[in-house]
Amino acid sequence: MISTRELTKDFVVSRTETVHAVRGISLDVEPGELVAVLGPNGAGKTTTLRMLTTLIAPTSGTAKVAGYDVAAEPGRVRRQLGYVGQGNGAGHSQRVADELYGQGVIYGLDRRAAKRRTGELLESLELKELAQRKVSDLSGGQRRRLDVAMGLVHAPRLLFLDEPSTGLDPQNRANLWDHILRMREQYSITIVLTTHYLDEADSMAERVVVVDHGEVIADDTADALKADLAGDQLLLTVAPGNQGPLQRLAEQLPGAREVQADGDRLTVRVADGPAALPELITAAQHNGVPVATAQVHRPTLDDVFLNLTGRSLREAESNASSNGKAAA
Ligand SMILES: Nc1ncnc2c1ncn2[C@@H]1O[C@H](COP(=O)(O)OP(=O)(O)OP(=O)(O)O)[C@@H](O)[C@H]1O
Ligand SMILES: [Mg+2]
Repeated sequence: MISTRELTKDFVVSRTETVHAVRGISLDVEPGELVAVLGPNGAGKTTTLRMLTTLIAPTSGTAKVAGYDVAAEPGRVRRQLGYVGQGNGAGHSQRVADELYGQGVIYGLDRRAAKRRTGELLESLELKELAQRKVSDLSGGQRRRLDVAMGLVHAPRLLFLDEPSTGLDPQNRANLWDHILRMREQYSITIVLTTHYLDEADSMAERVVVVDHGEVIADDTADALKADLAGDQLLLTVAPGNQGPLQRLAEQLPGAREVQADGDRLTVRVADGPAALPELITAAQHNGVPVATAQVHRPTLDDVFLNLTGRSLREAESNASSNGKAAA
């Protein structure tokens, strides 16, 4: 469905400043996949999406979407895809149903088809009750659902969502996700979305593409990324005076890394936490080392990011925003 090779985008800001927003992204997405593109502010996520949706031209490299080249056949590419941008797309003073109907007509549906499609989408995105409301009167979550509906009016095979859930409270985020996943089932669409929410990428996408400084630094299932890069962490507490013996036992676990004792706390990283924890506790019992508490901390995607880049995603975000301020 998508195939890019060494895609780059430079923005020439001034005679002395060029921003290398995307630095050689090669990516393949199969039909039906749900891919989350994850990365800090300024990583190049939106720029990549804008190239794939033909809104801006790549500086170099190639991209094919639904079999068509974005540079050579932008019109054909556009007909295959829906794009929900980072801001809100819908016009503010229009009524919800009119907005959807108008979008259908713009995409070349005849009146009857546009009306039918509007009805369908109002129904499936639970916007029916709001059909006669003005877009400006909708809540953030309702508005985002309308944005998704707008992206689906022409029944695209591929949907791009740029930070669909940013700014929504947890309940609205969950609700939007329910709808996105339902749309995916109902219309068998391929979905590529961007997000800063690690938990969201982790639980919803089958595949996570981590982007940093305009490059893909990891691309796999969330589980594989976590298994390969971070491993599980065991966290134990012991009675005073027993840290030393427990540390030695922890070091003997197969593949043990990063063994650290801090007061009555001991942490150790292993490949398979649920297998290693009972092993360590049994060894402690045999050696008369009393373990007070024990838990397995499974890595998050933030651990993965930290492992890949040496900084946490949150740290990367705050650096990016302070850089932005300095530049302004
Ligand atoms: N039109 C433009 N002109 C100049 N620089 C731009 C332009 N658009 C984007 N950039 C720069 O390109 C880089 C990548 O921006 P992009 O919007 O793709 O990031 P992003 O990953 O979507 O970030 P966010 O998570 O904040 O949305 C940033 O440094 C940004 O300032
Ligand atoms: Mg963006």
